[in-house]
Amino acid sequence: MTDKQAKLEIGTDSLDLPVLQGSCGPDVVDIRKLYGSTGKFTFDPGYKSTASCESALTFIDGEEGVLLHRGYPIGQLAENSSFMETAYLLLNNDLPSQGELDDFTYTISRHTMLHEQLMQFYRGFRRDAHPMAIMCGVVGALSAFYHDSTDISDPDHRKISSHRLIAKMPTIAAAAYKYSIGQPFVYPDNSLSYTGNFLRMTFGVPAEPYEVNPVVEKALDRIFILHADHEQNASTSTVRLAGSSGANPFACIAAGIACLWGPAHGGANEAALNMLKEIGTPDRIPHYIERAKDRNDPFRLMGFGHRVYKNYDPRAAVMQKTVREVFDSLGVKDPVFETALQLEEIALNDDYFREKKLFPNVDFYSGIILSAIGFPTTMFTALFALARTVGWVAQWNEMISDPGQVIGRPRQLYTGPTERDYLSMDKR
Ligand code: SDX
Repeated sequence: MTDKQAKLEIGTDSLDLPVLQGSCGPDVVDIRKLYGSTGKFTFDPGYKSTASCESALTFIDGEEGVLLHRGYPIGQLAENSSFMETAYLLLNNDLPSQGELDDFTYTISRHTMLHEQLMQFYRGFRRDAHPMAIMCGVVGALSAFYHDSTDISDPDHRKISSHRLIAKMPTIAAAAYKYSIGQPFVYPDNSLSYTGNFLRMTFGVPAEPYEVNPVVEKALDRIFILHADHEQNASTSTVRLAGSSGANPFACIAAGIACLWGPAHGGANEAALNMLKEIGTPDRIPHYIERAKDRNDPFRLMGFGHRVYKNYDPRAAVMQKTVREVFDSLGVKDPVFETALQLEEIALNDDYFREKKLFPNVDFYSGIILSAIGFPTTMFTALFALARTVGWVAQWNEMISDPGQVIGRPRQLYTGPTERDYLSMDKR
């Protein structure tokens, strides 16, 4: 709370509203008593000026391109941490000791298997079902298997549900991929790391041993860190809104997966690589730049722009660096990467993109490296969902454990017909 007040004057009425201050970032005007005092709502479609909650998990400064998880900069976490350590950080208040990290990693590894009945679920899908459709269905169905941990008022239930969701997402995502290519499911091997286990379940086959490539394992683990959490983005807000009704965590995460799938959100990584492949060679870039600038053309540069970042997305910088490291290490030369670098260079020097502050976001480069590792584009958003489950679960826990938590229920500006009498058919 600050001693600052905002004075709202509507006609002859005036209302003093408290101004609240966080530990960093913009102050907020507390309008909770606005409707009760004035009979008026605020109006903010897309919530561009609205803080929906108080949170201590992730801070973003869009102007400065800053992203902190519990105060730690994303670049330092990507360089020095692991996805399991970052998951612990988001779920708790600080980085773990070695013993705490070992215990957390062991606990997660003990929940990697799915109920065998759930593996039958996949057979109900067509082989060409999009992995995100499968993820929505299978994750939503988890609540049918874990009635022993859906009492969200019980902290122990919340904890085991959180661990189950984080642990099972790699198994669910890998099985969606295996099902799509007609290969048998590969069960978890808990002697491997979280990310190594996922790589083996995805690319291993029962017919021969699978060696995890440490360069790929480290790069993918870093990609998971970059996607772990991101303040109150659309899918996280979906999880919070679903959770505010008391829905079980499995249903809430399934709602988040559904929202993430959209091409304006997590689906952009798949769309960005498809766009880069459509552009093909650098000489075709100017044509697509002009299309992106044409307001009459729905085409947008996928992987560019962001609601919050009006400077470079710090995750995109780490992603580009990781692409170079992996390609150098694997001796990969991908013309699509060259096209992406040139597209970025041209766009960042174009007045339209500079005026509208459109920079590459986390989705611009991720597809290039995921494709090089061997994932089909249809799996990209499933990988985003796998990683973001950590953030969704942490944000859900933060909301549910807030004693002041209430069901989310926005209002509206009604512009439909005013009251009128029903007309019988002969009078219409
Ligand atoms: C993610 O919120 C998060 O934190 C999300 C995320 C996370 O980690 O959870 O960071 C992950 O979703 C990243 C964003 C991935 N999406 C894309 O890459 C899709 C392409 N980008 C756009 O659709 C758009 O930039 C959004 C959706 C990301 C942001 O949209 P906004 O904030 O509503 O901005 P806007 O659509 O109002 O755009 C402002 C202007 C518009 O022009 P005018 O109407 O003012 O003339 O910029 C233009 C837009 O037309 N514009 C683009 C553009 N993005 C915005 N023009 C060309 N290409 C683009 N990519």
